[in-house]
Amino acid sequence: MIPRRRHLERVTEQLGRFPVVALLGPRQVGKTTLARQLAADWQGPARHFDLEDPDDQKRLADPSFVLRPLSGLVVLDEIQRRPDLFPLLRVLADRAGTPARFLLLGSASPELMRHASESLAGRIVFHEMDGFGLDELPSDRLDLRWLRGGFPRAYLADSPQESSEWREAFIRTYLERDLPQLGINLPALTLRRFWTMLAHYHGQTWNGSELARALGVSDKTVSRYVDILEGTFMAWRLRPWHTNLGKREIKAPKVYVSDTGILHRLLGIESADNLLAHPKCGASWEGFALHEILRRTGTSHDQAFYWGVHTGAELDLLVLRDGRRFGFEIKLTRSPGITPSMRSALDALALDHLYVVCSGAGEPGPLSERITALPLGSIWKTRT
Ligand SMILES: Nc1ncnc2c1ncn2[C@@H]1O[C@H](COP(=O)(O)OP(=O)(O)OP(=O)(O)O)[C@@H](O)[C@H]1O
Ligand SMILES: [Mg+2]
Repeated sequence: MIPRRRHLERVTEQLGRFPVVALLGPRQVGKTTLARQLAADWQGPARHFDLEDPDDQKRLADPSFVLRPLSGLVVLDEIQRRPDLFPLLRVLADRAGTPARFLLLGSASPELMRHASESLAGRIVFHEMDGFGLDELPSDRLDLRWLRGGFPRAYLADSPQESSEWREAFIRTYLERDLPQLGINLPALTLRRFWTMLAHYHGQTWNGSELARALGVSDKTVSRYVDILEGTFMAWRLRPWHTNLGKREIKAPKVYVSDTGILHRLLGIESADNLLAHPKCGASWEGFALHEILRRTGTSHDQAFYWGVHTGAELDLLVLRDGRRFGFEIKLTRSPGITPSMRSALDALALDHLYVVCSGAGEPGPLSERITALPLGSIWKTRT
């Protein structure tokens, strides 16, 4: 077992402050495993209901009767199967003395599970779980994590082939079983084609009309597809930043496949050699680094931006924190230099500091007064 300390600590802390905590993340990322560990460590009674298990479904035929007398920790796994429980949870969360804490597990975002956020407003807090990050793995495993992605079974597989097969099965199950279970009925083949096209767009600005034309569907349909992938943690969008300086800035978001292992499977990349020779290698590295920087800095997707002007200057990532502005440029090289584009970004965006996130695992090194080279392998060792 690979310990997931950061997630455990965070959720434990949230359970101390809120009557309801939702632990959300993609399928197979380790939510149930984490919840079982929390329950095992819990001081006092703990119950786990799996809403996909027919026996637990029967047990919860009259949910008020079963849940009301429980105290301690109550885990409701696969909550997206029983949205009808939310109004009851609201009543139970409002009791004096909060006799029970509820931990909800699910694989759809609050936007997709609209009931949750609306009926439990003010009583619920969300924690998003993702695949293994560099802080959870030995430092010499960075390349393996990049190639295979962060899903436990994909990362820990005994052979490259087993890992690849697991990811293929994951993609199929997602399309053929998980989405229909969320009430999303789309032709699996079309969505797979879309997802594969998105993989080819990974790290590029989003051009919905181009994708729609290529797929032979409407712009609206394409934007629904990307909403679904995003709402189930399979893809994410990085929004553009505007300076109002009158420059011709790029206004479309960039789109990324969330997990590098899934990205590589969609692109048919099987080995490290394939990856390094592939035209999307740099983009894959960029998505990997961006995700890790967001985790490291505790930045959610909606607080992160990229910046680009049509004349060529750009910044891969802008993070706003405590009133300060940090820029990140991602370079797949061990010895990055300063480019004119970096200087433009420093000035135009009034950055407090710019980090050039590069490959390798050595110490960070200053490139100028406000620019530091930061090897991805050492970002968890570096104070930010
Ligand atoms: N920390 C870990 N170390 C090693 N293996 C893990 C870890 N966490 C999860 N796994 C393995 O990954 C697989 C998926 O884990 P789990 O069932 O907890 O995920 P999940 O998010 O609940 O998935 P689902 O959404 O499909 O219910 C399991 O085979 C589990 O043993
Ligand atoms: Mg589970």
